[in-house]
Amino acid sequence: MRVLGIDTSCDETAVAIVDDGVRIRSNIVASQTAVHEAFAGVVPELASRAHLDAFLPILERALEEASCTMDDVDAIAVTNTPGLVGALLVGLTAAKTLAWLHDKPLVAVNHVEAHLYAARLDEDGPVDPVVGLIASGGHTCLMRADGPTAIELIGSTIDDAAGEAFDKAAAMLGLGFPGGKAIDDAARDGDPTRFDFPRTLLARDSLDFSFSGLKTAVLYAAKGPNARRRAPLLADVRVEDVAASFQRAVVDVLIEKLDRAVRRERPRSVVIGGGVAANRELRARATEWASGTGVALHVPPIALCVDNAAMIAGLGYHHAVAGNVADLELDADPTPIRR
Ligand code: KG4
Ligand code: ZN
Repeated sequence: MRVLGIDTSCDETAVAIVDDGVRIRSNIVASQTAVHEAFAGVVPELASRAHLDAFLPILERALEEASCTMDDVDAIAVTNTPGLVGALLVGLTAAKTLAWLHDKPLVAVNHVEAHLYAARLDEDGPVDPVVGLIASGGHTCLMRADGPTAIELIGSTIDDAAGEAFDKAAAMLGLGFPGGKAIDDAARDGDPTRFDFPRTLLARDSLDFSFSGLKTAVLYAAKGPNARRRAPLLADVRVEDVAASFQRAVVDVLIEKLDRAVRRERPRSVVIGGGVAANRELRARATEWASGTGVALHVPPIALCVDNAAMIAGLGYHHAVAGNVADLELDADPTPIRR
């Protein structure tokens, strides 16, 4: 079964074609970084407009790279939740139009569940049950999966997402947007023990996350107590040390929560995904942790960790096979996933 996947949930216009939930025939992503850079964050209305401009050329490229036409597509999978409502609506309207025009089944996909699915696009993918940590700019959560579509949310952020914390810390430090990669790079030349930033772990057995306190701690350490975000850095503060100490604090929390989830759920495999999974310290620490606990760790290649539509088409295949098909009444639901 050949599935066309579409994702426009945030600031990437993505279209992909995947066969049988595993064979990626094309995976095209148009980034809007240049549109949002000046604002140091994603501007929802600009994102919707940029999706409108990008969608048809990206669809054409995805079909061309897969050497097929809409006639060869068996189903259309689209992200309908969560995300920016205006951005989601562009992909959803496109998917409905294509489904109606070409008389193909339409499948709704949850974007965060698709991030977890990304690891299954590999032939040697995870074995169920799976515990997954998904950390990106829009969401940070822990999930348990007993199959591609049998997913239970077991933890989520109560305030900022991990990637959002990276982006905000980078903006405060004048490192640009998106900030994750910039912090990752700066941290390489920094001392991660220079600042003892808070690790918010919440209750003893909690699998939820909170990063807003850390963000404030970074601001005060870098710019002085009660400083404003735009204030200059203190004279004796090295950006690299703040970046390294901040990154260490985030990674400590992510690994601790993952460890708690694994002790509780006893999975056979662990998956880490979402844009923050590109972080070098997180990848290294997770690998070290997994070898210590003996659990099989799966971290998809970076192109499948960040937003893409191959993961949407892949998970969409399993929904289609299960007969979980939507109609043209399907609506966008921007609600972030929360337990
Ligand atoms: O999954 P993604 O592409 O989009 C969302 O669904 O949000 O994730 C983007 C997020 C951004 O917050 C970005 O700063 C972060 O992932 N990110 C990183 C790194 N590369 C991207 N965070 C930490 N270290 C990185 N190397
Ligand atoms: Zn995402």
